[in-house]
Amino acid sequence: MVCLGNICRSPLAHGILRQKVKDKQLNWVIESAGTGDWHIGEAPDRRAIAVAKKYGVDISAQRARHFNPAFFQEYDYIFVMDRQNFADVCAQAENQEDLNKVRLFLNDDIVPDPYFDDQLFDPVFQMINQRCEEVIAELSLA
Ligand code: 4NP
Repeated sequence: MVCLGNICRSPLAHGILRQKVKDKQLNWVIESAGTGDWHIGEAPDRRAIAVAKKYGVDISAQRARHFNPAFFQEYDYIFVMDRQNFADVCAQAENQEDLNKVRLFLNDDIVPDPYFDDQLFDPVFQMINQRCEEVIAELSLA
């Protein structure tokens, strides 16, 4: 799961998907990272921690990582939250196989960045939560 800072959107997607995968006893590895390096090593934004906690997901132990091209080897799918993330991740791909791993998390839409708008955390949680269910259903068939 990749966004810009790895402190708001991708930690939510990471924590929500990890919890659902665990509940379904799937043996999937879920991680997250940011295309920007400003927040490396930091916990998620307190507003992201709070909205996740409100819905029973604990993301407080996560620490922000910087997206690294080595992730193309480590992961089967790279889900990005918006089109800038998509461009930034694709720019680090070495080949078509790498590019094929990159997907907009919402398919045809973006997860809006809630960093500068407190009101967005709840709807962002909801849209990520719903999409995580679909991702599990889709990838379980893959
Ligand atoms: P995120 O949100 O990409 O969902 O983690 C942001 C976090 C930090 C910044 C921008 C977006 N920032 O500019 O520091």
